[in-house]
Amino acid sequence: MKSKTIVPIKRLNGEITMPGDKSISHRAVMVGAIAKGKTTINGLLDCDDTNYTIRAFEDMGVEIRKKESATIITGNSLRGLKKPKGPIYLGNSGTSMRILSGILAGQGFETKLVGDKSLSNRPMGRVAKPLSLMGVDIKTGPNSLPPLVIKGGKVKPMSYRMPIPSAQVKSAILFAGLYADGVTTVEEEFKSRDHTERMLKYFGSNLKVENLKVSMAGGGELRARDLEIPGDVSSASFFIVGAAILKGSEIALKNVGINPTRAGILKVLSRMGVELEVFNKRELFEPVADIRVRYSGTKGVDIEEQEMPSIIDEIPIIFVLAALSRGTTRIRGAQELRVKETDRIKSMKENLEKMGARIKFFNPKVNDPEKIYNFNYADNRPEHKHAIEICGGVKFHNAVVDVSDLRAGATLVLAALTASGQTVIFGVEHLDRGYEQFEKRLKALGADIERIREI
Ligand code: S3P
Repeated sequence: MKSKTIVPIKRLNGEITMPGDKSISHRAVMVGAIAKGKTTINGLLDCDDTNYTIRAFEDMGVEIRKKESATIITGNSLRGLKKPKGPIYLGNSGTSMRILSGILAGQGFETKLVGDKSLSNRPMGRVAKPLSLMGVDIKTGPNSLPPLVIKGGKVKPMSYRMPIPSAQVKSAILFAGLYADGVTTVEEEFKSRDHTERMLKYFGSNLKVENLKVSMAGGGELRARDLEIPGDVSSASFFIVGAAILKGSEIALKNVGINPTRAGILKVLSRMGVELEVFNKRELFEPVADIRVRYSGTKGVDIEEQEMPSIIDEIPIIFVLAALSRGTTRIRGAQELRVKETDRIKSMKENLEKMGARIKFFNPKVNDPEKIYNFNYADNRPEHKHAIEICGGVKFHNAVVDVSDLRAGATLVLAALTASGQTVIFGVEHLDRGYEQFEKRLKALGADIERIREI
């Protein structure tokens, strides 16, 4: 197993531009591939996950070229994808597998979607069930896990109320709805990121949004458009928290997507007392801005279930800020974190506790944080909405920790930068190109990366 040793630093200073948003990059490739005409995408995120999405469409006969910073896609139109020669391999990318299944629902061939060990253990019943209700022939492996086998064909419109908030599932249904003969509606309890809705509208689909309900009229074609991908607010959140926990920091982040259904982290961080200035706001097909952050003391807050969809990927970094803030932070309804690339609640709790964090669980029904909930990682009962309490006022110390994905890796590096000694992080072979970009930007903000070395 490979490891890295992280040496603490004093502060972050400077200005950096954010890499393209991962969720929007996936969708841009998907929509470009099934649109009519040539789509030029600028600033597409270059990481393993988005490259799997690109390869999937190449395998299905779509021409995708890179020219300097642009990605040029010649779309095959809605029903023009070709049967791939074999199964489509999607690595670690749950977003690719789930959303792609909606597009495959409308193609006239059978496809098998497979993934790596982590993806092979992620729940797919959540997409297979609604797509079956639309008349799609879709099969999962045992226990509703991958592989997915989808035989595309006729798609029926439907009205669906989402049992869990998931932009991936909502997106799969909306893509399938493009192929249906009639109007498909999806309703959510709490709004999940709306990148698919914005992208499909931008490409000319007949889609209507009323609060928590989205209606998609099938038929018609998508028309190719050029687009610029906004910077990734999830990547930005690591640097924002870095500036908030290292005294004397002042940084500016350029080109950050601030879509309110996605950028809940900015609201939570402001509530915690992070000195954030969002300026130079502009509207592409998504809202974008620059963000300045100065170090200031922060405090614990309560984070509620309805906020979860807009901050789900940023909860790990909130663990770090919360531990270093005054007071207690309570997070309710975080159960979806357990079925991400890894069980992120488990990984954060175990790793940060090794560094000195104090993290407990409580039963949110009782609403008394003193009644500590006897947490069992194997317990998947929906009534056990995981509520987490993070005690503040901690100083991290050196430890040996383990990472298994990019977000966990970047989160632990941030914690390690404030620690009293050197932190050894094992499992860095799981970190992809996205991590390299993270380190490069950290260095640009003055983190002495030469001392963050591989051993
Ligand atoms: C994503 C949606 C979220 C998020 C994931 C990306 C997307 O997952 O955690 O990183 O691009 O739609 P869920 O839809 O499972 O909540």
